[in-house]
Amino acid sequence: MLMISIPVTTASRSYEVLIGSGLLERAGEHLGKLLENRRAFVVTVAPVRRRWAKVLLRSLSTAGIATDLLEMPNGERAKRLSTLEKLADKLVKQGADRGITLIALGGGVVGDVTGFLASIYMRGVDVIQIPTTVLAQVDAAIGGKTGVNLVSGKNLLGTFHQPRAVLIDPAVLDTLPSREYRAGLYESLKCGILGDAGLFRLFEDRHREILDRDPVVIEKVIADSVRLKASIVSSDEREGGLRQVLNFGHTIGHALEAETKYTQLLHGEAVAWGMIAATHIALSLGKLDSVTAGRITNSVIGFGKLPRMKFQTASIVKRLRSDKKTRQGKVHFIIPREIGKVEITSDVPEAIISAAMDEIRQLARN
Ligand SMILES: NC(=O)c1ccc[n+]([C@@H]2O[C@H](COP(=O)([O-])OP(=O)(O)OC[C@H]3O[C@@H](n4cnc5c(N)ncnc54)[C@H](O)[C@@H]3O)[C@@H](O)[C@H]2O)c1
Ligand SMILES: [Zn+2]
Repeated sequence: MLMISIPVTTASRSYEVLIGSGLLERAGEHLGKLLENRRAFVVTVAPVRRRWAKVLLRSLSTAGIATDLLEMPNGERAKRLSTLEKLADKLVKQGADRGITLIALGGGVVGDVTGFLASIYMRGVDVIQIPTTVLAQVDAAIGGKTGVNLVSGKNLLGTFHQPRAVLIDPAVLDTLPSREYRAGLYESLKCGILGDAGLFRLFEDRHREILDRDPVVIEKVIADSVRLKASIVSSDEREGGLRQVLNFGHTIGHALEAETKYTQLLHGEAVAWGMIAATHIALSLGKLDSVTAGRITNSVIGFGKLPRMKFQTASIVKRLRSDKKTRQGKVHFIIPREIGKVEITSDVPEAIISAAMDEIRQLARN
């Protein structure tokens, strides 16, 4: 089996991201050498357990790794401290000591919860990430950020805890609902726009195959996205500066998610709108030519209709001012300068932000 291996090198730990179709069946072979006391706990959710847990458990058992399965409730609402506490209690009851390894098998929610738990259980145990959504494969599983939500806001509690390894099997995406699949792809498209012109062209040229989940093309899309994120994380583990560019589309994306109360848009869809808005801002500032702006907007829209949403421009602007990424009262935007190159700017007049919001409202109507 052909496998791609991408290194992540951070001050706290270096590890490999392995990518290959069918990798789940061979997880045991790869993890055997990494697991300290050959005792693992797989954390997952029902939709993923039903389809994929058996394959993973069989492979781990063949490799002589004693494994238990821990199930947590599905969905963003389970990304709470109370879920961590329940999982931790189950671990203690099952005799988990500090030599165990946690394996996150699922989307970004499972990855964030499991990573967080691993960082604090008995003051820290190892974690392996096995992401099963596009979003988790190209983004959440890489880079060591963990977290849970509070009633007062998303991801407000968390740690940095780099995994021992990340195993990506694109074949598991076959069972992903198509809306989730597409939403994750916007994060990958984001990688192309902000730092990899070749990846962006892949989205333009192989658009149909990507939507049809062509295994060869999709593996390349994932690998290129991972490569980009891995290189950024490797030079800026804790979001000093460089890592901020990964937030392209997220300033307005987050505001839209919050404004629509997290009920109308999936995260990736909100980022899609955010990327279009940031592109419009760049154009208005005279920092992007109109042909490139058109290419970016078309590539986002080309993935099909985005869900409708209702928002007030004024309340978005107000939200932006109180965003956690605001520094010294100024909103930071990541804007495209050309395909594969972005810039961080904090000098965007409110009128330009409002015009960008009006633009996406218009597009959302069509
Ligand atoms: N740590 C980070 O750096 C980082 C980065 C980006 C996002 N995130 C977090 O990731 C979370 C979103 O992740 P997500 O979009 O993967 O959501 P998710 O984990 O809720 O998964 C989406 C849905 O898909 C289902 N699912 C997962 N894999 C499947 C499969 N192979 N087949 C069928 N169904 C499957 C899940 O059960 C769930 O219903 C958010 O909480 C976000 O904050 C974290
Ligand atoms: Zn995102």
